[in-house]
Amino acid sequence: MQILVIGSGGREHALVWKIAQSPKVTKIWAAPGNAGMSDVAECVQISASDIRLLADFADRTRIDLTVVGPELPLTLGIVDEFERRGLRIFGPRKDAALVEGSKVFAKSFMKKHRIPTGFFQTFDRSEEAKRYIEEIGTPLVVKADGLAAGKGVIVCFELAEAMDAVEKIMEKRLFGDAGERIVIEEYLEGEEVSFHALTDGEAVLPLASSQDHKRAFNDDQGPNTGGMGAYSPAPVITKSIHRQIMEHVMIPAVAGMAAEGRPYKGVLYAGLMIGAGGIKVLEFNARLGDPEAQPLLLRMRSDLVPLLEAVVDGRLRDQTIDWTPDASVCVVMASKGYPGPYDQGVPITGLTEAAAEPGVMIFHAGTSRAHDQVVTGGGRVLGITGLGPDIREAIATAYRAVKKIHWEGAHYRTDIGVRALDRE
Ligand code: AMP
Ligand code: GLY
Repeated sequence: MQILVIGSGGREHALVWKIAQSPKVTKIWAAPGNAGMSDVAECVQISASDIRLLADFADRTRIDLTVVGPELPLTLGIVDEFERRGLRIFGPRKDAALVEGSKVFAKSFMKKHRIPTGFFQTFDRSEEAKRYIEEIGTPLVVKADGLAAGKGVIVCFELAEAMDAVEKIMEKRLFGDAGERIVIEEYLEGEEVSFHALTDGEAVLPLASSQDHKRAFNDDQGPNTGGMGAYSPAPVITKSIHRQIMEHVMIPAVAGMAAEGRPYKGVLYAGLMIGAGGIKVLEFNARLGDPEAQPLLLRMRSDLVPLLEAVVDGRLRDQTIDWTPDASVCVVMASKGYPGPYDQGVPITGLTEAAAEPGVMIFHAGTSRAHDQVVTGGGRVLGITGLGPDIREAIATAYRAVKKIHWEGAHYRTDIGVRALDRE
């Protein structure tokens, strides 16, 4: 089989790496890919959101299966376009990807299907939103309706912050049309986890548990990022919590989407808060988490390709997934300035030495090649992922490799996985 993976981040490098191990696969393409993927995949310079060009390429190259990494092409309707042309593709259609593409849709969907989530109100006029904020007071969370590259969610502890958030999103349109509507949501306390499942629209097959670290700095300080590290398994997901998540969140979500005539196929990722009030959904995503995918795929023993095909063909009911009991930890190394404006084109050293560490995989996120050298090319640059018999060993392995890698201004958290140790 020839497989095309769409995207250019650490998640897509992990997908390419995992797919390359399948005996079913003869050739992998990545669009647009990155410097790390070029070892196992041929990169083609087509943007992940250029749906028509991607479909032309898949058609012309006789790609047997396309796998979509990021959310943007999904919400733009890449799956609909490929299906229209008779091309096989893994991911939800546009009307199902709306669970991630619109917070207003996601929240009303959860309310309608009694999926546990924080109390909320939606607004399309800023004066009304502000009046409501004055009425209920803080803490609260202001969320832009549409995609905003992970920046459209503002947790507010002060009234002035909340007013400012409404102004930025709705009046100044910091995130463009994504700010036409907002959700104002109850502030929830607890521990955040990422719960992923494969689904063909009917059967729901959960992946191993995982957790990411969203804040930029140690001890969950600093601004939110796309994720500074992740680990799997997440000990907070006990057997009982797992059962509750399946019963109250994942199964009703998949059934609800089918009942609404927008069957959901692909990976459904629920961002959950586990707190005193039980399990609550913070958000749904229409794809694998990044960086959660890196530790998850490192732990997956099963061949991924037949699983992806079973989703596409509606045969997921008969499938199972085999995971190593080992733990995995991914430490993200980021560019100076990230998540704000950052440097690019800075040469990276030590990659070969780091990759030689036993139990380590280095997934590239924002890298490119210049004059035969790997240089930084994004905010999150590398995901150094270690495997070990337990979380403690996996952390030690990942950081042994991290310490071998250098570039001017590189920064990373030194406490990835520590939350899991607290629970041992
Ligand atoms: P979301 O994109 O909705 O997951 O929001 C991004 C981040 O904001 C989450 O990962 C949480 O850390 C935080 N967040 C979102 N909603 C809430 C909430 N209702 N209460 C507390 N924190 C939240
Ligand atoms: N790591 C969080 C996300 O992928 O949305």
